Amino acid sequence: MIQLEPIGVVRSPFAEPSDVPRFAADRANVKGTIEIFETFREGLEDLEGFSHIVLIWRFHKSEEASLDATPPYDVGTKGVFATRSPRRPNALGLSIVELDTIENGCVHIRNFDMADGTPILDIKPYIPENIDPASVSLGWLEEARKAVLESLTD
Ligand SMILES: C[S@@+](CC[C@H](N)C(=O)[O-])C[C@H]1O[C@@H](n2cnc3c(N)ncnc32)[C@H](O)[C@@H]1O
Repeated sequence: MIQLEPIGVVRSPFAEPSDVPRFAADRANVKGTIEIFETFREGLEDLEGFSHIVLIWRFHKSEEASLDATPPYDVGTKGVFATRSPRRPNALGLSIVELDTIENGCVHIRNFDMADGTPILDIKPYIPENIDPASVSLGWLEEARKAVLESLTD
């Protein structure tokens, strides 16, 4: 077993997980803060200047884990590891968010999908890796997205 100690906590206008808008466009300019606990603040040195950061966090309000999940597209059940469902073993979330500023141990962020009180386990600078976008495929999500887009234009 592994024990993890949160380095901070999210202050978010989304009081509950169900308040988080599903689509990134609907939360693009919503601002939030990560309050970094005193013991870890020194580690924020030199983070400012990165436009995006990677957050690793805990779905602390998720229900019991399941090995399958029903994504918010009408595509039936999928294996949990083929989804980003909160109800997963270890309940770890991973989000790439925009970094605005850092002051007094508070990391100001935008475009995030965490509810208020979410424990943050780690922060890393986002560095775009050398992945050719043309080589990326999205498995079952590709078809599901197409169907959703078509239904919107109908
Ligand atoms: C689909 S998950 C994806 C999270 C992350 N981007 C990932 O890929 O791991 C995002 C949803 O998790 C839920 N959520 C946010 N904070 C949570 C928390 N602290 N505990 C449980 N669920 C949470 C919200 O409903 C939000 O819309």
